[in-house]
Amino acid sequence: MNRHSAEKKELVSKLNERHDLSDSELKTLIESAEPDTELFQAADALRKKVYGEDVYTRGLVEFTNYCKNNCLYCGIRRGNPQVERYRLTEEQIHQCCEAGYRLGYRTFVLQGGEDPYYTDERICALVSWIRKQYPDCAITLSIGEKTRESYQKYFDAGADRYLLRHETADEELYRMWHPEEMSLSNRKRCLFDLKDIGYQVGAGFMVGAPYQTTEHLITDLRFLQELDPDMIGIGPFIHQKDTPFGHFESGTLEMTLRFLAILRLMFPDALIPATTALGTIDPQGREKGFRAGANVVMPNLTPVSARENYLLYDEKICTGEDAFLCKGCLEGRVYGAGYRMVSDRGDRIHMTP
Ligand code: 5AD
Ligand code: FES
Repeated sequence: MNRHSAEKKELVSKLNERHDLSDSELKTLIESAEPDTELFQAADALRKKVYGEDVYTRGLVEFTNYCKNNCLYCGIRRGNPQVERYRLTEEQIHQCCEAGYRLGYRTFVLQGGEDPYYTDERICALVSWIRKQYPDCAITLSIGEKTRESYQKYFDAGADRYLLRHETADEELYRMWHPEEMSLSNRKRCLFDLKDIGYQVGAGFMVGAPYQTTEHLITDLRFLQELDPDMIGIGPFIHQKDTPFGHFESGTLEMTLRFLAILRLMFPDALIPATTALGTIDPQGREKGFRAGANVVMPNLTPVSARENYLLYDEKICTGEDAFLCKGCLEGRVYGAGYRMVSDRGDRIHMTP
């Protein structure tokens, strides 16, 4: 064994025991040229210890692609005139949930751009309907930055989870990725408000995005330690041709898998999805993600006619398959990789420290 691989082995076992490393140790691990075999094995063993072989599902409804924001990486930014905009009707959203429930999903994620049409009243009406219809389901919202009062209203209407990736925890990088009117401080304010209200919160970041360095990524890990989210969503940055970042290289499978494993070792009881972006950069990306510690998938329930317009990045997968096919596809992938797709709400299992 050469010096580098011995050093890496050492770092993996230290991270596995302490669930933390110093910044310089993290840097070595992140930038290592050695294979990740032991890192993945350790991450997989730890997820098995906490969550067994279970992979939880979250039925995803992409209900609007209107967005008042203009994030430079995102395909549905308001400044992209190539997008055909859509909104699902209330009835269509109900039907998505009905289909999802029949397929066995017990968590629904209502995700959309920041669309002013969906006022708090409309969001609350949707949430109350699902809460009443499916009392045994978790209701997750992923609709961006709102005031604390709005978050409280949705919570009171019955929402219990909220996904809002912080994207990057570095001030300067955040500014390079977002328009003037957005700020990292407001993003963070949202996440802490959500937690404080009592939501189960999901944060996360992109890997391999423009201008991003190892130091930035370490800042992301440190921010997550401060926030202690229930769910951590990461995926490779993938360029979208009609955005200002359309000509940048996409992130890699290898680096994303490495971060999935590091996250599992740092946050043993976190819910970590194998994302659609991961499945997009590699046909076996999600399977590889499970083996690196991921334990959640988000099957798509959006009507097929709308899906091709919810393109955050180029070549997005799962746009042609309806909810039924998507379930079969994912089930095959989960079982094929050696895991088990389960259909309960999949709450976080808090590890006693
Ligand atoms: N590549 C990869 N992920 C992206 N997202 C948005 N645009 C892209 C892109 N070009 C991610 C963001 C957002 C989530 C819904 O999708 O992290 O939070
Ligand atoms: Fe949706 Fe494969 S996961 S089609």
